[in-house]
Formats: sequence, structure tokens, C-alpha cells
Amino acid sequence: MQLVFLGPPGAGKGTQAAVLAREMGIPQVSTGDMFRAAVRDQTPLGREAQRYMEAGELVPDEVTIGIVEERLRARDCQNGFILDGFPRTVAQAEALDRILSAMGRPLDRAVEFRVDEEEVVRRLAGRRSCPQCGAVYNVHTQPPQQAGVCDRCGSQLVQREDDREETVRARLAVYRTQTAPLIGFYEQSGRLVRIDAARRPDEVTAELKEALGIA
Ligand code: AP5
Repeated sequence: MQLVFLGPPGAGKGTQAAVLAREMGIPQVSTGDMFRAAVRDQTPLGREAQRYMEAGELVPDEVTIGIVEERLRARDCQNGFILDGFPRTVAQAEALDRILSAMGRPLDRAVEFRVDEEEVVRRLAGRRSCPQCGAVYNVHTQPPQQAGVCDRCGSQLVQREDDREETVRARLAVYRTQTAPLIGFYEQSGRLVRIDAARRPDEVTAELKEALGIA
């Protein structure tokens, strides 16, 4: 199955993509994670992406589309994938359709995660992530067993630079203007599924599976 997860920052796209990818045996392809790894390693891509990410802005389309195209051609994507955080502009969505059409594997569904902005700000203030294995926690709703330590690999958890409230507000503004138009793009082509992402994570997972027909 080829899926796109859409929604504002903090909607739970990454949390749900990780669960579904594990259960379905397909990769979670997160452009945010790819950029963060490049920033950590200070590659040329990372140095370019860093200034946009720190400002809460989007990395330019030509850079982002190129890395996604290369990633989707990898062997582990042959049986499907979950795109988490891509596309984020109409140009990216159109490019994705072209890439998948050339590969002969059209997109099955785009899932919109719906949640209000104040809930997102609350969630992101409590998010902690593992810089090593990418596991995501929340000090309020999904705390690790030992405070500040990753359950999976034992590394020290960190707060993302772009989770400071003023950067979150900037990311939300970018979402409203540049990414929300994709909801209409996928709705018009009959590929949109809407999920109430304000509920508990296990309830969101159940609704998602039912909507995708994999319950
Ligand atoms: P990216 O990493 O993609 O950030 P994002 O889309 O803003 O998404 P988040 O990771 O913030 O949120 P999420 O929806 O995955 O929520 P999560 O599951 O973690 O992008 C970062 C930056 O990279 C961008 O700003 C941009 O600069 C650049 N970039 C990335 N892709 C790009 C692209 N395509 N084009 C251009 N630039 C791009 O959950 C959040 C928190 O809430 C966690 O603590 C979690 O534990 C908790 N939580 C999750 N679900 C629930 C629930 N149901 N109830 C309560 N708490 C919950």
C-alpha cells in the first residue's frame, strides 16, 4: 500500500506511521527524519536544510522532491511505504504523482490527521525524541519508563529545536498556507481519508486501520 500522511505539526503523523509501518512491514519515509539525520551529520544537504528548519519554513521543493524520489526507488519501498510529512506543497504532490505514475504504482490514499492548533502546541511542548533511533515520546501522554532515557536504545532524549512555541506557531502558519491546500487536491481526486487525530493514540490507530480497510 502506498500512503501519504498529511496534517499539522504535532498531529501524530509520525507516531501513527511508526505503528502502521511496523504492522504492515513497509517503511515509514519521513522527510523530517531524513533532514534531521543530514543536519546531525552536517552533510551539504543538512547544512542547507538546517536554516529552513530552524525558522520553521519548508526546505525548497527541488531539494525535497529529489531526496524523496531517490528514497522511493530503494528496494525496501517495493511493497509499499508510508510518506510521513511529504508532500507539503502542491508542487511536491504533483511531482509525487508523476514519480509514482512512472513507477507504475499509484498512491492508494492520503490521510488527513485533524486536530486543533492549541492541542498541537501542547503536544509539541511535551515531545521528546531519541536522536539515535528516532523513537518519539511525550512527557504528558507517552512518557518513557525512565525520565529522559529512550526505552528502545537507552540514549538521552532531546527536545527538538523547532518545538519551541514561537517556531511551532511559524510551522502552523506554513501548514495553513502551503500544505492545507493539498487536502482539496487529494479530495478532488477521491484519494482523501479524514481521521480524528485528537483522540488517544490507540483510538487513532483503530480509526486509521478501519478507514484503510486493514482492521
Ligand atoms: P517534520 O519532522 O515532518 O515535522 P512536522 O510535520 O511538523 O511533524 P511533527 O514531527 O512535528 O509532528 P507529527 O505529526 O509527526 O507528530 P508526532 O507523531 O511526532 O518536519 C520538520 C521540518 O523539516 C519542517 O518544518 C521543514 O522545515 C522540514 N521538512 C520536512 N518535510 C518537508 C517537506 N516535505 N518539504 C519541505 N520541508 C520539509 O507527535 C507529536 C507529539 O504528540 C509526540 O510527543 C507524541 O508522543 C504526541 N502524540 C502523538 N499522538 C498523540 C495523541 N493521539 N494524543 C496525545 N499525544 C499524542
